[in-house]
Amino acid sequence: MSDPKKLFIKTYGCQMNVYDSERMAETLGGSGYVEVKTPDEADMILLNTCHIREKAAEKIYSELGRMRPFKEANPDLKIGVAGCVAQAEGEEIMRRQPMVDLVVGPQSYHKLPAMEAKVEAGEKALDTDFPEEDKFEHMPKRPKASRGPTAFLTVQEGCDKFCAFCVVPYTRGAEVSRPVDRILTEARDLVERGVREITLLGQNVNAYHGAGPNGDHTLADLIWALDKVDGLERIRFTTSHPNDMDDALIAAHGECEKLMPYLHLPVQSGSDKILKRMNRSHTAESYLRVIERIRAARPDILLSGDFIVGFPEETEADFQDTMELVRQVRYGQAYSFKYSSRPGTPAAARPLVDQSEADDRLQRLQALLTEQQTEIQHSMIGREVSVLFEKPGRIEGQMIGKSQYLHAVFADAPGVERGDIRRVKIVESEKNSLKGVLLD
Ligand code: SAH
Ligand code: SF4
Ligand code: F3S
Repeated sequence: MSDPKKLFIKTYGCQMNVYDSERMAETLGGSGYVEVKTPDEADMILLNTCHIREKAAEKIYSELGRMRPFKEANPDLKIGVAGCVAQAEGEEIMRRQPMVDLVVGPQSYHKLPAMEAKVEAGEKALDTDFPEEDKFEHMPKRPKASRGPTAFLTVQEGCDKFCAFCVVPYTRGAEVSRPVDRILTEARDLVERGVREITLLGQNVNAYHGAGPNGDHTLADLIWALDKVDGLERIRFTTSHPNDMDDALIAAHGECEKLMPYLHLPVQSGSDKILKRMNRSHTAESYLRVIERIRAARPDILLSGDFIVGFPEETEADFQDTMELVRQVRYGQAYSFKYSSRPGTPAAARPLVDQSEADDRLQRLQALLTEQQTEIQHSMIGREVSVLFEKPGRIEGQMIGKSQYLHAVFADAPGVERGDIRRVKIVESEKNSLKGVLLD
């Protein structure tokens, strides 16, 4: 038998890309590839890209530039671009970077084996269609291959919300939910392979409405179905839209023990004027009311959010509304970005605000968010948490894992294995992690 071909995948962007990369590696396994950790010996390099902000997209071209020496050293090396830049720019990528052999959009990954064969035959391959099928059903899995204790599982993809700044509805297409039975089958398979925690993924995961045994299931129904999977200990989901937090999902946060007390609920801005211009279809007040209901159902929930500053027409007063909303919510974790104009989106034509002003706002917002994150981390000292241990720590005998609140926790853990869940008392708070001692 000939040696397997080597595949190197580099992943950018959101967790959905991480999941897609795993599935692409498994699919190309069927074409004789094994995944390797470095590009130098690869027979194929695949960049799984992100288009969300200008910097993310431009990075791909400099990364392709860095691949040139590998191609020069090995003219048989195939170079592919997948993900949201592939979808958004298509053929343009091959024009700008002629050494690219393959361009594949996120909805066409099941066609990778055929595309690979074409490339192997010396042709270029391009596919950025939006077919009406569940691509994952046509992507072979490698059952039994063991895995770490946590996994992502895409249940919903695409977005119909069309926020004025966002490329996702164009790069991922319309909202599509996968059927319940396929998700359950995949979840059981992951559990058999060692997974204890599954994070359900979707660009708008709480708009999930997949076909189930008795009609469509909501995300809450899906969570309750997964709750019955033996061996699965923890469930998370991301990313949610404030308008799709229905009563059943909020109630599940109080009632489902496997559902972890952590919620990522992006708000983007605290100014109703800006939210309207962003086409977010919620107000600061309606967002705060959702938070109130979630906290009533699950008082200890840790909240996380996304923010954009410097959106066109944002004034200092609008920005202060965002700061005020942050003070009211108190986030344990957050991501904040300076607005980046994206070609093809409705906001792209609008004039930018003064960029030094936007930089300054971003700094002030990030200082406040960091302060809240640190305070909440400190408030964990003395508390008992449960930790799912994932890997050895830097120091001999230590293990690192995540608490139910998604804090990284490390502890001296003799005899603890990957995948064990233990009670831990938090004793110190460091910059991005907590130190704990095992209680049992
Ligand atoms: N579906 C999620 C977010 C997807 S994109 C939601 O509904 O919120 C992840 C984050 O990137 C967004 O929440 C937003 O904060 C940020 N983002 C998206 N487009 C952006 C842009 N043009 N400029 C800056 N940040 C952006
Ligand atoms: Fe983008 Fe808005 Fe859809 Fe989130 S809800 S993916 S920000 S368009
Ligand atoms: Fe980026 Fe596409 Fe995800 S644009 S954030 S990789 S959906």
